[in-house]
Amino acid sequence: MTSSPTPPPLLAVEALESAYGAVQVLWGVSFNVPHGQIVTIIGSNGAGKTTTLNTIIGVMKLRGGRILFKGEDIGTLPPHERVKRHISLVPEGRHLWPRMSAEDNLLMGAYQPSLRRDARRNLTRVYDLFPRLKERRSQLAGTLSGGEQQMCALGRGLMAEPELLMLDEPSLGLAPKLVDEIFAHVEQICKQGVTILLVAQNVSYALQMSETAYLMETGRITLSGPSRSLATNKYVVEAYIGKA
Ligand SMILES: Nc1ncnc2c1ncn2[C@@H]1O[C@H](COP(=O)(O)OP(=O)(O)O)[C@@H](O)[C@H]1O
Ligand SMILES: [Mg+2]
Repeated sequence: MTSSPTPPPLLAVEALESAYGAVQVLWGVSFNVPHGQIVTIIGSNGAGKTTTLNTIIGVMKLRGGRILFKGEDIGTLPPHERVKRHISLVPEGRHLWPRMSAEDNLLMGAYQPSLRRDARRNLTRVYDLFPRLKERRSQLAGTLSGGEQQMCALGRGLMAEPELLMLDEPSLGLAPKLVDEIFAHVEQICKQGVTILLVAQNVSYALQMSETAYLMETGRITLSGPSRSLATNKYVVEAYIGKA
């Protein structure tokens, strides 16, 4: 091992390959997420963004490559072992339990024995961040508005005390005002010290609020750099922002 003057990134994904049966979807995907940053992966529908996040959390098996979290290769650990290391995924489509209360949904984010002890304290933190969820805590999740459901999904992700919070399309299907609200919450969560990996079809928003960006196309990273430079990159603007 060689020692490096810069600390390793919180998450380093190296040459990741994933497949659904015989159909390979990720082809050697590599990227880094440094501590404390918001990093975004942008790309069209079907590019492989969700597959990437699902492979990092472990609900999808990796076929090749490595996933290093704080330098540890977690790529073959079961999902709960990854959650235990404080990695959390807020999945695309939220996946709440509609017939459970908002609060019970939040508590499901802390079902692991190692997290249960601090569940009440974490619940208080989530309610401080989302006062509206506190007001609605007894309401069935299925009857919450779209924005409230997304807050509930974010809150559930926070119940695992994540160091790395992965957000898969948090603004999808929300009205513009609610999109603003959700992204303001995401920035607030980052300021509290949580590192964020964001996947969003809302490309201009994702580039505005992140420091580093990766463009994914058909299962490969085809462009990367500071978000500010991707936001003015001619190809990105023409293919991903202009048409939005
Ligand atoms: N459960 C699945 N079975 C087979 N193919 C899938 C499945 N989920 C996604 N795919 C395929 O994998 C590719 C990447 O999908 P996905 O990761 O969901 O992309 P994105 O999140 O960027 O829209 C697409 O071609 C999609 O059709
Ligand atoms: Mg997706």
